[in-house]
Amino acid sequence: MPVKTVARRVELKDYTTLRIGGPAELWEVETLAELKEATSAPFRILGAGSNLLVSDRGVRERVVKLGAAFNSIRTFDRDPEQWIGAATPVPGLVRRAQRLGLSGLEGLLGVPAVLGGAIAMNAGTRFGAVSDSLLELELSIGGRIERIEADQVSFGYRWAELPKGGVVTRARLALTPSTPDRVEARLREVDAARAGQPKIKSAGCAFKNPAGDSAGRLIDVAGLKGLRVGDAMVSLEHGNFIVNLGNASAKDICGLLELIQNRLPSPLELEWCLWGF
Ligand code: FAD
Ligand code: EPU
Repeated sequence: MPVKTVARRVELKDYTTLRIGGPAELWEVETLAELKEATSAPFRILGAGSNLLVSDRGVRERVVKLGAAFNSIRTFDRDPEQWIGAATPVPGLVRRAQRLGLSGLEGLLGVPAVLGGAIAMNAGTRFGAVSDSLLELELSIGGRIERIEADQVSFGYRWAELPKGGVVTRARLALTPSTPDRVEARLREVDAARAGQPKIKSAGCAFKNPAGDSAGRLIDVAGLKGLRVGDAMVSLEHGNFIVNLGNASAKDICGLLELIQNRLPSPLELEWCLWGF
């Protein structure tokens, strides 16, 4: 059966939580055959766009997004070892796992990712990362579907070593049967730890924490909260969040990142993925 054309021109600012990013050709795919076709030329895979700083000039490569067919939220059930599609929103998964009394995803509360993006970044908090709850991954690599045991993949702090060019299409979770009340109690703990984070447009923490310290604390004690370039500002609530007050450009954000780095005693490592720079 011929693969239908799924490409269109978009502004990536409509696909990132920072609301920044220029033009690209977006391939939204609903089948593995469409994914194979979309990834047959240079591409980048887009999740929920919550850890991305995209250039104002956009990107030249195709931007591939897994469509609704890769979202398993409706079929997420009591099976603690079920397969979940990579386009499933993490906030919905966390909530539904609580209602089903399944434990393991609580550390992901507040992470506005889809499952594939969470796996690629090994998202989490000090209460746990996504890699703690994975048994197996299914990836499309050059259009070929492969399965890998999760313990064959190296996961680190905000980092995963996925096969080059691999697109996570779904993952088999390893959850623990518990009760809705117990999971809820754990979620409340995680929520409390996030109380100081801003609610306006951002891409989460800009920098990784250096060993034994917090980038947010270092930026705070350097007196940089409220520092601003255009509409890009260091959050007044949390030093490691850069917020878009309205119409910030990627150029504004880069200018602000440079100012921050120049005013710190030692440079911090960026957590964000940079596209098009
Ligand atoms: P994207 O940002 O779209 O992409 C990130 C990377 O993953 C890119 O390299 C992309 O190519 C790759 N990718 C996406 N999908 C796939 C796939 N299917 N297969 C292979 N690669 C893929 N992060 C934390 O870890 N902890 C937090 O507490 C946290 N809090 C946040 C709070 C806010 C308000 C925001 C905006 C962000 C926060 N983040 C946090 C950052 C972000 O949510 C995570 O990094 C998340 O994992 C990104 O997932 P995404 O789906 O948005 O991926
Ligand atoms: N702090 C300050 N000033 C600030 C920010 C923080 O003094 O402006 C202090 C806090 O008072 C606390 C310490 O620094 O004593 C740590 O702060 P927090 O608990 O907010 O944690 P964090 O290390 O800044 C990490 C993750 C977050 C995650 C939270 C909650 C990183 C880079 N950040 O933040 O993840 O949500 O813990 O567990 O690892 C992300 O990665 O995008 C992200 C948001």
